Amino acid sequence: STKYPEIQRDERFARLTPEHVAHFRHLLGDNAVIDGVTSPSAAIDDDLAPFNSDWMRKYRGHTQLVLKPATTTEVSQVLAYCNEHLLAVVPQGGNTGLVGGSVPVFDEIVLSLSRMNAILSFDPVSGVLVAEAGVILEAADTYLASAASPHIFPLDLGAKGSCQLGGNLSTNAGGLRLLRYGSLHGTVLGLEAVLPSGLVVDDLCTLRKNNTGYDLKHLFIGAEGTLGAITKVAIHCPRRPAAQNVALLGLPSYEHCRRAFSEAKAQLSEILSAFELMDAGSQALVTQVTGNTHPLADGGGPHPFYCLVETSGSNAEHDSEKLGAFLESVLDSGIVADGTLAADETQARTLWAWREGITEALGHLGGVYKYDVSIPLADMYALVEATRARVAEAGLIGEGDEFPVRAVVGYGHMGDANLHLNVATRRFDERVEGVLEPFVYEWIQERQGSISAEHGLGLAKKKYIGYSRNETMVGLMKQIKGLYDPNGIMNPYKYI
Ligand code: FAD
Ligand code: MLT
Ligand code: ZN
Repeated sequence: STKYPEIQRDERFARLTPEHVAHFRHLLGDNAVIDGVTSPSAAIDDDLAPFNSDWMRKYRGHTQLVLKPATTTEVSQVLAYCNEHLLAVVPQGGNTGLVGGSVPVFDEIVLSLSRMNAILSFDPVSGVLVAEAGVILEAADTYLASAASPHIFPLDLGAKGSCQLGGNLSTNAGGLRLLRYGSLHGTVLGLEAVLPSGLVVDDLCTLRKNNTGYDLKHLFIGAEGTLGAITKVAIHCPRRPAAQNVALLGLPSYEHCRRAFSEAKAQLSEILSAFELMDAGSQALVTQVTGNTHPLADGGGPHPFYCLVETSGSNAEHDSEKLGAFLESVLDSGIVADGTLAADETQARTLWAWREGITEALGHLGGVYKYDVSIPLADMYALVEATRARVAEAGLIGEGDEFPVRAVVGYGHMGDANLHLNVATRRFDERVEGVLEPFVYEWIQERQGSISAEHGLGLAKKKYIGYSRNETMVGLMKQIKGLYDPNGIMNPYKYI
């Protein structure tokens, strides 16, 4: 039984037996095993359910076994055994991934890293944090914030309360401040990973500079669990900025957003730490779901577009003066129709909630088709308009129950030219999917964009890798996969 008629179970993989499970119990202890193989029951199914279903409730697997190793040695022993017995494995972190990569497709074993959640060291002078892969992102940041010399984790995203560092690296998550702190390919200094053979790849380097041959850690960053399991991470963390200031802007058109971004870079330069885009539709959804009044509702709102601008610096007075002057200048020049500045940290959090809350609000509507794309900035929002027109032309959008589409919205990390196009439906519907795909991917390819800017490919985008990577590159990826995972047990059926 599967929801994916186009994917067949690979019968090279063994089916789990009570002997396999007995081995894992012996290796890890009873508390580290959720076992639906030897003792199936409704209660065990309930325990397995969260590991089988993704955050969007779009993808559902059928695992009967979850393993929770506590050490790298245990991960190594588990994987070596799986490799030898041809048992397929899905590494799972916080299970907040948005492309169906973190859940099994059939009966793959789930390897949960959640018990490997220790902070191992932090050097307040270099800012290097070393931690196990199962540490929750928010816990890492809270730890750094409370250090004697406060630091900040160089990645922040809406799922921070659940996602894990290993999952962040495996998806190469981008998030809200990539504009300021750069990608994980720049901030991760080293990692430890376990290959399916059981080989521990100890590349837990803590140096900023290390030009000694191929930098193999980069293969695991963004590999989505297809090469091995990440078990430890060393990452360079900046000093926590003493001051953070936030402004929310209302704008009449996308072109005005582009001009505002250009002005923000010019006027705020080194203190600019986020520049995010939200369209009117996305804000209407947050309003509808939370029941809150939009902060710019009174100033001629609703506006067609909104931008959230954040600064991070070392001098609160200087920064707020600069942000205030920026707001005044974009209001005076007519780039921005209305704007507000957060007066304190609570207000800043409230303004951020209008951006960070979009994903959750969309989730309340039914099924969401999510497209996370990179397109040169000039064309970026045109994709939302083109999609809206196509959905309307197909007669799929409207108020009544007979129309499957409820909204086509756009938001995202404008500072990184990364748009999130989301089509909210009453329920997942093949007719809608047929109208959206491959249309969206073709549109992106024509503009030399990327079909996945930050969420990865997983199962959702697996068929479409060719729209962003040529045959030579996919061929090389397959060779690397064959070298690291010759039996193909790591996260099978996904993009590679
Ligand atoms: P999971 O979902 O558990 O796994 C993701 C992938 O990594 C899977 O393929 C899995 O097999 C693999 N994996 C997990 N752990 C390991 C490991 N230790 N070793 C090897 N492979 C592993 N993403 C962004 O880039 N930017 C955002 O702004 C952003 N915001 C989000 C907001 C919300 C509300 C939600 C729900 C998701 C968001 N995401 C965002 C998507 C998601 O990619 C990130 O939340 C996060 O990086 C996933 O981490 P995780 O621990 O939940 O990984
Ligand atoms: C975001 O930027 O909010 C995340 O990537 C999640 C999403 O795309 O909804
Ligand atoms: Zn995002």
